[in-house]
Amino acid sequence: MSDLSGKRALVTGGAGGIGMACAQGLAQAGANVVICDLTDEVCAQALTELPEGVESLAFDVSDRAAVEAAFAEQNAAGGVDILVTCAAIVKACPILEFDPEDWERILDINLTGTFHCVQLAGRQMVDKGWGRIITLSSVNGQIANAGRGAYSCTKGGVDMLTRLLAAELGDKGVTANAIAPIPVDTAMIRNVHGPKDRAVWHAQTPNPRYAKPSEVASAVCYLASEAAGFVNGHILNVDGGFMATGVLPGRSV
Ligand SMILES: NC(=O)c1ccc[n+]([C@@H]2O[C@H](COP(=O)([O-])OP(=O)(O)OC[C@H]3O[C@@H](n4cnc5c(N)ncnc54)[C@H](O)[C@@H]3O)[C@@H](O)[C@H]2O)c1
Repeated sequence: MSDLSGKRALVTGGAGGIGMACAQGLAQAGANVVICDLTDEVCAQALTELPEGVESLAFDVSDRAAVEAAFAEQNAAGGVDILVTCAAIVKACPILEFDPEDWERILDINLTGTFHCVQLAGRQMVDKGWGRIITLSSVNGQIANAGRGAYSCTKGGVDMLTRLLAAELGDKGVTANAIAPIPVDTAMIRNVHGPKDRAVWHAQTPNPRYAKPSEVASAVCYLASEAAGFVNGHILNVDGGFMATGVLPGRSV
């Protein structure tokens, strides 16, 4: 297991399924963890299921002023060494019917919200000469998943933002990598997938199931570790082989 003792980690969307698993994994590895989510109530509920010592901070990642205040608070407390950006929303809708207001909201949270957080955390990491930025992308950033218009575009943007951070911060002791899972069993996927979608994904994935939040967290803990110091600008698929294959002969729904 990675030893993250003495490191300060911040997980956005930390009360969600993947964010909580990441917070748990990072705390078990010895990091001081702060979860961030939309409200104090949501954060407080998540803390009841997380290891003692994990703290929380409520803010909306799409609100620049609120993000600046939160990161200033973190800086005063010692600065952020590890940032994991999980905050995101999804809407299932064909592109020709997509409401422009929904489009903007999804971009504001998933892409611009990620930008606000990586920029402010990145500055603190550069000051410290060490840092790990880990963005939660999706395989939807690399392939067009019909019906996920805005979401897929934001994840493609998150991939490029992550590579850009790697290019600009690699000589300053900071790495930036993205995790790209296939569907993971959390509230997000339960809102947009029914049993039929589930069966189709299982049939098309070499390891025929969804990812577990703990499997995403393991990849995050590796990328946060000293051992991953030369892994930079990578999009790590946590996908049971999905992105490595085309049609799987013999598999039926
Ligand atoms: N679940 C999946 O199938 C799956 C697959 C691939 C990638 N991902 C990505 O993993 C990340 C985590 O997803 P999850 O499955 O845990 O989703 P989730 O819905 O369980 O959690 C997302 C969390 O983000 C918070 N959030 C939403 N908008 C916010 C905002 N404006 N500011 C702050 N917090 C906000 C929500 O309150 C929620 O707690 C997301 O980036 C998602 O796109 C998920």
